[in-house]
Amino acid sequence: MLKPELQSQIEAAASLLQQGGVIALPTETVYGLAADASNHAALKRIFNIKGRPADHPLILHIADESQLVHWARAVPDTARRLAHRFWPGPLTLILQRSPQVSDIITGGQDTVGVRVPDHPLALAVLRAMGSGAALAAPSANRYGRISPTTAQHVRDELGDSVDMILDGGACKVGLESTIVSCIGDTVTVLRPGGIPLAAIEDVLQHKVEVIDSSSAKIRVSGSVLSHYAPVTPLELLPRESLWQRACELEQQGLRVATLEWSAPDTVHSAHAGIQRTTMPANAAAYGQMLYATLRQLDHAQFDRLLAEATPHSTEWLAVADRLKRASHRD
Ligand code: TXA
Ligand code: MG
Repeated sequence: MLKPELQSQIEAAASLLQQGGVIALPTETVYGLAADASNHAALKRIFNIKGRPADHPLILHIADESQLVHWARAVPDTARRLAHRFWPGPLTLILQRSPQVSDIITGGQDTVGVRVPDHPLALAVLRAMGSGAALAAPSANRYGRISPTTAQHVRDELGDSVDMILDGGACKVGLESTIVSCIGDTVTVLRPGGIPLAAIEDVLQHKVEVIDSSSAKIRVSGSVLSHYAPVTPLELLPRESLWQRACELEQQGLRVATLEWSAPDTVHSAHAGIQRTTMPANAAAYGQMLYATLRQLDHAQFDRLLAEATPHSTEWLAVADRLKRASHRD
């Protein structure tokens, strides 16, 4: 049961959405910028607020698996098994769209991305909107920037341009959902995220390919190379050269911050122009705080951020992907 004051916020959120409003709401991954999936004017507003190109499709959020019938058709058995295991949770399935899905959501493609978010407030809003409802919701950041993981991040970035910001605390996953395409005979990961690859392979009992979607035909906005980017230039370096590079930049008079996950080297600790941030050595814990840390360092006006490259094991795929894109400059 939600507290009474939260209950009235949920009702206000659902009614705003039903009237064509656009609101920010918490999910377990990142905050979403949500609109009623059946309201074309509200869907268009999402693209305006984000500054997102129209050919980058939105994903749909539904209350539970039974709602899938309204939005997708010919759902393969593999998708059912994944949904069954991971919903509610950070897994987006790409499926054949049903005729009622708006072209504004899919960017004109015949597929649609769908997930059931694992956050009590997002689920409560969906239920309050009634059976058959879905929310189209990209991450609540401006196009190309870091996704928000607290309500304050959304306020800082989108402020008055949204009709309401529902505060559900800090997101427990902190990185976006894993996007899995279940079109045709093969299952492929289009974006690594909150569900590790090994967990997906465990359900399917076979290896799954992770495709580098920056080279794919489908537009996956998170696949544009310079995505999830802080304003401060970020360099990604192996542990061996990180410190040398930090000293080199410091000698040029630059203010440098490092993000390191392996045990800090105490010999190097006392350097005035270099701030070291120790990140967790566990992939999920690192992922949970990555975006909040990048935002914080961005506000602290460093000239350069240096991030230590992550281990190569598959549990680090999502963090490694976000760091790579954050370090890319056009
Ligand atoms: O965790 C998440 O997925 C968050 C929360 C709010 O649910 N949402 C999110 O949405 O990250 P967005 O729009 O920032 O990223 C969704 C990604 C986009 O890169 C989009 O291009 C891709 O999903 N996508 C949507 N529909 C697709 C489709 N039919 N085929 C391939 N990719 C699709
Ligand atoms: Mg996004």
